[in-house]
Amino acid sequence: MNKFYITTPIYYVNANPHIGHTYTTVAADVLARFHRLIGDKTFFLTGTDEHGAKIEEWARDAGLKPQEFVDRVSAKFQFIWNELNISNDRFIRTTESEHMRAVQNALEFMYKKGDIYKGEYEGLYCRGCEQFKTERDLIDGLCPDHKVAPELMKEECYMFKMSKYRDEILKKIEKDEFKILPAERKNEISSFYKNEKLEDVSFSRKNVKWGIPLPWDETHTTYVWADAFLNYLTGLGWTGPEDKNGSWREYWPADVHLMSKDILRVHATIWPAMLLSLGLGLPRELFIHGFFLVDGQKMSKSLGNVISPEDLMNRYGVDGTRYLLMSATPFGHDGDIGWNKFDEKYNADLANGIGNLVARSITLAEKASLIKGDRGDLTQNSKIPEAEQARYGAGKTQNHNLKFKTEIEQSWKTYQENLLELKIDSAIDVINKRIKFLDGYITEMKPWEMIKNSNENTGEVMYNVLESLRHVALMLWPFMPETAEKIYESLGLDMGKEMAEDKKFEDAIEWGGLSFETKIKKGGVLFPRIF
Ligand code: MSP
Repeated sequence: MNKFYITTPIYYVNANPHIGHTYTTVAADVLARFHRLIGDKTFFLTGTDEHGAKIEEWARDAGLKPQEFVDRVSAKFQFIWNELNISNDRFIRTTESEHMRAVQNALEFMYKKGDIYKGEYEGLYCRGCEQFKTERDLIDGLCPDHKVAPELMKEECYMFKMSKYRDEILKKIEKDEFKILPAERKNEISSFYKNEKLEDVSFSRKNVKWGIPLPWDETHTTYVWADAFLNYLTGLGWTGPEDKNGSWREYWPADVHLMSKDILRVHATIWPAMLLSLGLGLPRELFIHGFFLVDGQKMSKSLGNVISPEDLMNRYGVDGTRYLLMSATPFGHDGDIGWNKFDEKYNADLANGIGNLVARSITLAEKASLIKGDRGDLTQNSKIPEAEQARYGAGKTQNHNLKFKTEIEQSWKTYQENLLELKIDSAIDVINKRIKFLDGYITEMKPWEMIKNSNENTGEVMYNVLESLRHVALMLWPFMPETAEKIYESLGLDMGKEMAEDKKFEDAIEWGGLSFETKIKKGGVLFPRIF
């Protein structure tokens, strides 16, 4: 059995969850669910990053003690992820005592090894990023993300000998042992390594109280990134460098750290250097997705164009929100979103697409059952038509049947290839193609006429439709779990059984899995149209 360990960044609790956080988290959820679907032993970690000067300030502004403040905001993240059906295995908070102790153990180990030393740091510091900047990072002297001039900061601090690990990290990046994807992001990082000197980095702050004290000098607290990165290990239960064989070993190294470009550089420099210092393996892959703009503009409170996950859920429901975010833009590239685009896509793909197909198919299946006249309650308990007698009868439907089998196999292959390569939007295209094809098939075969004429091939045609719907539902499950479960229920099936440990994925995706004896059930409207 393969294992799959995926993480999102842990989000700063200085802001409420917004669409950017939601995008990364839903994408990670889709990938985690996909890996569970194909039978991989999967661990999906997300959480909140709760220390540092910025958070201390925010708490002060809100008139709260830092701990009260982080408790509140972290709870909001957990609430929203729960609403959105995010299936994380663990939610880590950097204020948990186990995490804090492990960070202290790690830093002490690095200090004793000589990789952390006392020094003085002078540099341009952006409070917004909580990062030191080089002149090259600035545009017109300003931090491009926060539009403020970084402050010149000089203070006594403990430094991390990151420079020591430069060559080793660069080699691993170039050999794809430490993959950075998409390719243009790898190039960006490789040229950063080649053009700039990898300087040692300050690992402690003297005047920030809201942080983890260094165990050997409590007048300093840990630089927030050093604290934050270790969540990827402590989230698995790692307690420090002494913890050699804990259960965290099962999942480390991580398969994918998912994030956006704003935090790529630190993940491609400080984090691997820390891991090498600790004698641990590097994550296999950093996957960098794009940034969202709203109608061409950067989302910001002052422009009043911030779209919150709650707004989206109120308008499109949980699955609608998940779908619209995942199909908004080619995964790995920047994307432009907006209400009009979302409305159009919702109506086209969800209300008129899958929603309509399911309603149409189930209604027809119920009517088709009338032919044999032995179905009892037609709305609640009608059976899927028995196709055997018609099975090998008619050329046209038989050809379709073969076509269905091979095409579904091909779709599964492409769907899996896409998701293994994190081409999330392309996997959605595969599903939508099946949906369009099925709509066309129904229109062409006109089962309603076949039913009227008591055509003996009706069962065959309806079986093709319903069995295809079963496959579509399975493919949809990582994206829209509730919808997939509802479709399964309409087909008289139970998605829970499909996900059970003893159920083999290879069997589930074989053509013909739907029994002729299954009971179909009409459900409610999946996606009401938005006008
Ligand atoms: N706390 C650090 C991460 C530490 S990880 C060891 C942090 N937090 S953050 O709250 O600022 O989250 C940054 C991440 O949020 C991005 O990398 C991305 O995943 C997501 N997004 C935030 N805004 C975004 C957009 N506008 N568009 C897409 N995703 C963005 O950095």
